[in-house]
Amino acid sequence: MFDTDPPAAPRPTVVHPARRNAEPLVEVQGVSLWYGSKQALDDVSFELYPAEILALIGPSGCGKTTALKLLNRMHDGVRDLRMTGRVLMEGQDIHREGLDPPLLRRRFGWVAQKPNPFPRSVYENVAYPARLHGLVRGQAALDAHVEACLRRARLWDEVADILHTTPGTDLSGGQQQRLCIARALSQMPDVLLMDEPTGSIDPIATRAIEDLMLELKADHAIVVITHSMMEARRIADRVAVFHLGRLVEIGPTDRVFADPVSPEARRFIAGRTG
Ligand SMILES: Nc1ncnc2c1ncn2[C@@H]1O[C@H](COP(=O)(O)OP(=O)(O)OP(=O)(O)O)[C@@H](O)[C@H]1O
Ligand SMILES: [Mg+2]
Repeated sequence: MFDTDPPAAPRPTVVHPARRNAEPLVEVQGVSLWYGSKQALDDVSFELYPAEILALIGPSGCGKTTALKLLNRMHDGVRDLRMTGRVLMEGQDIHREGLDPPLLRRRFGWVAQKPNPFPRSVYENVAYPARLHGLVRGQAALDAHVEACLRRARLWDEVADILHTTPGTDLSGGQQQRLCIARALSQMPDVLLMDEPTGSIDPIATRAIEDLMLELKADHAIVVITHSMMEARRIADRVAVFHLGRLVEIGPTDRVFADPVSPEARRFIAGRTG
C-alpha cells in the first residue's frame, strides 16, 4: 500500500547520550504489521532504554498506537493480523515458545487517552492489578501498596479520605488520569505505555501529568504518544517520528526538533510548530 510513497529516507539510529552504555530494555527489530490487507507498520526498528521517555509522534493513522501495542503483545488474538520482524525484551523474543503473555503484560502499564477507571472505589482500582498478579500478600501490605501507588501518582492527598466511598469514575478528569497511572503502577511495571495520556484533559491537569511522567521515568521507561509538539519537547528524551507506517527518524528530542534529517520529519515538525 505504500507504493506511492517517496523512497525510504535513511533512518539514522541515534542512541540517547546518557544511555550509550546501557542495554536496551526493549528492541523492535524490522517489524512490519498488517491488519488484513492493510499495512500499518513497515520495517519499524527502535530501541527503548531504561529510565528514558521516548515520544512517538506523527500524523493521525501513521501507526503510533499500533507500534505501542506491539510492545506488550496487545495485538494477540486480533483476527487477520500478520506481523514479521521481532520484538525483544531484555534480549529475549517476546513471542518465544513458552512465554506466558500475562506475565509479559504485567511488566507494561497501559494508560489510555481517555481516563478509564473501573466503576469501583478508588482503593479497588489500585488494588486490583496487585491482587490479579499476586504481587502483594496480606491486607496491611495491600493497603500500604495502594497508598504508595497513589502517592507516586500524586493523588493520595486528594483521595485519602474517600478511598473506599467514592468510585474512581466520580473523580475529575485529571484525577481520573492520575488514578489510572496509580493503577498502572500497581502492577509494578518496568515500562509505562501511554497513548495520548493528556489528550483529553485540561492544560493544568496536563502539566501535572507531564511533571509526574518526568518523576516516574527514574524508575520506569516510558513510551508516550502525543499530538502536542510542545509536550514532546517538554518531556521526551528522544522522539520517534512516524509517517505512513514507517519510522522515518529517531533521535534526541532537541536534535530532531532543531534539525530533522528526514524530509517527512522535517515537513511534519515544520507543519506543527512553524
Ligand atoms: N484493528 C484494526 N483493524 C484494521 N485497521 C486498523 C486497526 N487498527 C488500526 N488500523 C489502521 O492502521 C493504521 C495505523 O493506525 P494507528 O491507530 O496505529 O495510528 P495512529 O498513528 O495511532 O493514529 P492516531 O494519531 O489517529 O491515533 C491506520 O490506517 C488505521 O486505520
Ligand atoms: Mg493512535
